[in-house]
Amino acid sequence: MPGPKGLPFIGQALDLFKNANNPNAYFTELANQYGDFVKIKLLNNKMVILSDPKAVRELARGEEGRLTLHASRHYKLEKGMIRVTMDYFNHENWNDIRQVLNIPLKPQYFNEVILPQLTELNNELLKSFVNTLKFDENSKQYYFADPMYDIMSQFAFSAVIKVFLGVKVTEKELIEKLGFTVRQYIKDAVDTTDLILKLQYQPGLYKYGYKTKDYKDFEELSDISFGRGFKLVDLLSDRYDGKIPRLKELVEERAKMAGFLSEATTTVLSAFMIGGVDVTARMMTTLLYRIAHEKEWAQKLYEETAQVFGEPTADELTMDSVIPVRNSRLLTKDTILGAYKLEKGTQVLFLDVPSVQSKYVPRGIEFLPERHIKGSEISEPKDYLGPFGTGARKCPGERVATNEIYFALIALVRHFKLTHSNGNEFPPFSVEKSMYYMDPTKYRVFFTPRDHLLPYFK
Ligand code: HEM
Repeated sequence: MPGPKGLPFIGQALDLFKNANNPNAYFTELANQYGDFVKIKLLNNKMVILSDPKAVRELARGEEGRLTLHASRHYKLEKGMIRVTMDYFNHENWNDIRQVLNIPLKPQYFNEVILPQLTELNNELLKSFVNTLKFDENSKQYYFADPMYDIMSQFAFSAVIKVFLGVKVTEKELIEKLGFTVRQYIKDAVDTTDLILKLQYQPGLYKYGYKTKDYKDFEELSDISFGRGFKLVDLLSDRYDGKIPRLKELVEERAKMAGFLSEATTTVLSAFMIGGVDVTARMMTTLLYRIAHEKEWAQKLYEETAQVFGEPTADELTMDSVIPVRNSRLLTKDTILGAYKLEKGTQVLFLDVPSVQSKYVPRGIEFLPERHIKGSEISEPKDYLGPFGTGARKCPGERVATNEIYFALIALVRHFKLTHSNGNEFPPFSVEKSMYYMDPTKYRVFFTPRDHLLPYFK
């Protein structure tokens, strides 16, 4: 299989280390240079970067192996905590806890729980837009200093709390009763994840009783994050009025059926709070820039939502041509794929990057929502996995996230006109961050309130 020549023992580990902040760009460069199948080696780990959508689909269907997060596994075993899916080895029984995580994916809970709970948050989102927007005297425009942290992550956090605990949580309440802000919560959770990934590629000395500084930092941050999750569930449990069902009882019931202790609910909730806030907030922030950039499309969407409020017809999340997505498998057996034999233990990374895949998607690097209309000539191949992955371990938060994003989209286009500060070019993602992130200090989104909102801005 083609691939760069690396050093005999460590392979491409140094290159990856140099590109650690933005591995996507490195993987994309390799895919552009070597093709749809690229072999690399990172210390003892074999990795394949796969860009052919058909091969991706074939492998994704038959293989459910994932990376085990070794440090997280060790931490939870040592503390006697319940583990979630990614803390298990592939040969262990990860499926029982995954069934508990699957609760938000059940179609019946969409209408009974997710939609009504999120509907109650809708006004809050608009209110927080109005309260948080700042006015720039020079350009005479409204903007958020940092849309991801100031607005979108707050909304994503509130949405997860609302669907699972059935309560509206305010920043003031968090600070007064629990002593942290949403921003701190997310920062610590993201730092914990970053450390887990860093430790993944270091020798696991903690397994032999020696804890490095990175491991100790990870341990300390995990104590903080889990502690906050437990306190939050405690604090908010009494505030629930029971009028609309919430997911907590359903999670509890499923956990009990599978024989887990009662604390499984809080552990699962913590996994949702960590998995469901940062990535969704990044998606929604990218969406702001997209609406600001595609003025015609935003106007069309505005008109459509005006006709059929609540039923937006453009499907934002399937426009994966704007966001590079990564998903992977860890092979649990030797596997033949295309012309290659891949060894058990190889990590196969699915690369979904428009510049590499334009040969598979007609006009793939253009933003064309029409491609998602049934029968469209420019549609992408059915083999695409989409942003949430596929199979038994796909994202369990898909329904929550999709609907949160619809709500945000509707609220945005109905109440504001958006523009951005990068002229005719769509602002690039920041290369300093591994996940899609627009730097608000470089590229600003401006909000012009529509006429009916003007009184609130005087
Ligand atoms: C637009 C937003 C989101 C995207 C693009 C996204 C994407 C993903 C992807 C690709 C995976 C890995 C799937 C795989 O390995 O096959 C994943 C896992 C996960 N997601 Fe999401 N997600 C989003 C929002 C959410 C939300 C809102 C929640 C919680 C309510 C959530 C909770 C989780 C959890 C707990 C996992 C780990 C599942 C496991 O390992 O079994 N995600 N997500």
